Amino acid sequence: MSALQNRRILVTGAGSGIGRTAARLFRDRGAELILVGRHLDRLKETLPDAVHAVLDHTDDAAVAAFARECPELDGMFLNAGGLLLGSVTSMPVADFDATLAVNLRGPWLMAHHLGPRVKDGGSVVLVGSNIGIRAIPDSAAYSVAKAGVHMLAKVLALEWAPRRIRCNAIAPGPVRTAMVDARLEASADPEGDLARLSAVNPLRRLGTEAEVAALAAHLLGAESGWTTGAVIPIDGGADAVY
Ligand SMILES: NC(=O)c1ccc[n+]([C@@H]2O[C@H](COP(=O)([O-])OP(=O)(O)OC[C@H]3O[C@@H](n4cnc5c(N)ncnc54)[C@H](OP(=O)(O)O)[C@@H]3O)[C@@H](O)[C@H]2O)c1
Repeated sequence: MSALQNRRILVTGAGSGIGRTAARLFRDRGAELILVGRHLDRLKETLPDAVHAVLDHTDDAAVAAFARECPELDGMFLNAGGLLLGSVTSMPVADFDATLAVNLRGPWLMAHHLGPRVKDGGSVVLVGSNIGIRAIPDSAAYSVAKAGVHMLAKVLALEWAPRRIRCNAIAPGPVRTAMVDARLEASADPEGDLARLSAVNPLRRLGTEAEVAALAAHLLGAESGWTTGAVIPIDGGADAVY
């Protein structure tokens, strides 16, 4: 039997990038999917016959209303997020607030309202970032939000352990998705930036959506049953570099 057979898994940010690839992989491994994002057309394009939920995960009342209608879940992949860069001095406060909302308030609200919908013995995976572990300039808002996501996963692992619900965070390095493409498009030297992004890890390449999705599938399935409260880098070895 496939590792995710008959498990009902909710995926946020399922209309693009890592979330889309992950949703398709979970489906291929037998899961029943609830896809969450703000654009119905994108969710349908990911998997036309999944359940689609148009939801802004930063909206407390909307997430609460969604949770009241949501069936019981075996797992959640809380993947939605967004990148805004800028130094602490230059970033407008509104961008700081928006970055904290999409990356930290969103998963917190999903855990807050939907945690009770996760069955005993379930598994929840949050998406952090390798720059929530190691610092680079011009990323403070995103990095502190992702560092918060890592700690959120650890605290949830403790709070949910009595119900045998596991919670882990994954911390990807750069993966070639729309998020990274937008960053490169905004650069004065996209090719140089791409080369630099690739060079910071020993394997000297960007990650793929499929590699990140496979780690999430492992953490959502029973084969990872003794893993909880972990923050797992998936970054070509960048985290190991002094
Ligand atoms: N790509 C990388 O290099 C990288 C590295 C480390 C971590 N990550 C993390 O990986 C996750 C996925 O990113 P990605 O690279 O796949 O980028 P992406 O394609 O831009 O995906 C982000 C997803 O989040 C959804 N989203 C944004 N705001 C939302 C909101 N308020 N409510 C609900 N959904 C919302 C977007 O869908 P809608 O706009 O349709 O709502 C989109 O599908 C993010 O958490 C990101 O921070 C990415």
